[in-house]
Amino acid sequence: MPDHENQPSLRATAERVGLKVGAAVKLSRPDRPEPEAYWRVLSEQFNCVVAENAMKPRWTQPERGRFDFTMAQPMMAFASEHGQAVRGHTLVWHNGIPDWMKTLDPERDTVMQVLRDHVHGVADRYRGRVFAWDVINEVFDKGGWRDTLWRQALGDDLLPNVFHWAHEHAPDAELFYNDYGIEKPGWKIDATLAEMRRLLDLGVPLHGVGLQYHYTLHDAPTDAELMDVFGRIIDLGLKVHLTEIDIRVPINDGPAAAHYDKQAEVYGRLIRTAMQFPAVDAILFWGFTDRYSWVPGFFDGWGDALLFDAAFKPKPAFFAVREAIATRAPAG
Ligand code: XIL
Repeated sequence: MPDHENQPSLRATAERVGLKVGAAVKLSRPDRPEPEAYWRVLSEQFNCVVAENAMKPRWTQPERGRFDFTMAQPMMAFASEHGQAVRGHTLVWHNGIPDWMKTLDPERDTVMQVLRDHVHGVADRYRGRVFAWDVINEVFDKGGWRDTLWRQALGDDLLPNVFHWAHEHAPDAELFYNDYGIEKPGWKIDATLAEMRRLLDLGVPLHGVGLQYHYTLHDAPTDAELMDVFGRIIDLGLKVHLTEIDIRVPINDGPAAAHYDKQAEVYGRLIRTAMQFPAVDAILFWGFTDRYSWVPGFFDGWGDALLFDAAFKPKPAFFAVREAIATRAPAG
């Protein structure tokens, strides 16, 4: 039975205003071992899903030329059963790749061939089922281009090529560039926008920028900073998706729950600001329950970053997000 206090759901609230509200799905095995409550909350609260890992190259092409889509399968089946849109993450990245991709012959033609085959293989498999792809993830680092094998071999052709390849095999999907740390003014959003502008001038099929939004209670962007970034992306004629939202709190200096109200305030401000821009038409959280989150394993001393606690009970952040979504003007 739906839990009374979770109603109306985020999903119903979002659907009234034509918004996709999604969560990353943690698939630990291809046989769906997560508890019933996990799947119940996922279907009740979200109209969109993304695989936290299962569509990354390491899982989709474990050996050169052998594609494997079994890991994402339970999520794909669940999404069709429950009428959820699927967001794709990520065709190209420097992380989440199989060992054979790390030890490739760095010569340009070999790398081109591998990337093209990979993008084609995965985009084609999900053709018509994935409504938007993160085509390439996190190409900037430490003030400039991240030094990856992809960049070394393809140089300035990297993004134009991968977007063209994605478009060939996913002609109906919206194609996104995705990164973190670009939600505030600074060198990284400047570099990103310069590259986006260059792609658009070249006629590359590019439709939007994904802002990951992994922050703490203390370093989250202000409303003014966010509005500035949204405005600059939208001015290029692009969409914005918030792709991996989590807002972590300290978990080792007293009860984490003491920070939940402040966390709700940061969540609420973020979503309220986003709702003012119709070009922000999908918002996704990097998980939904603190029971399964990458945060404590990755950021020492931090956790409880999501909307539901480890027992699947909605936190203040859930109610703040729901209220914020409802401030968007209804879909006409
Ligand atoms: C993370 C997953 O959450 C972890 O389970 C995995 O071990 C590493 O990747 N930016 C991204 C995501 O684009 O793919 C990352 O996901 C988190 C940061």
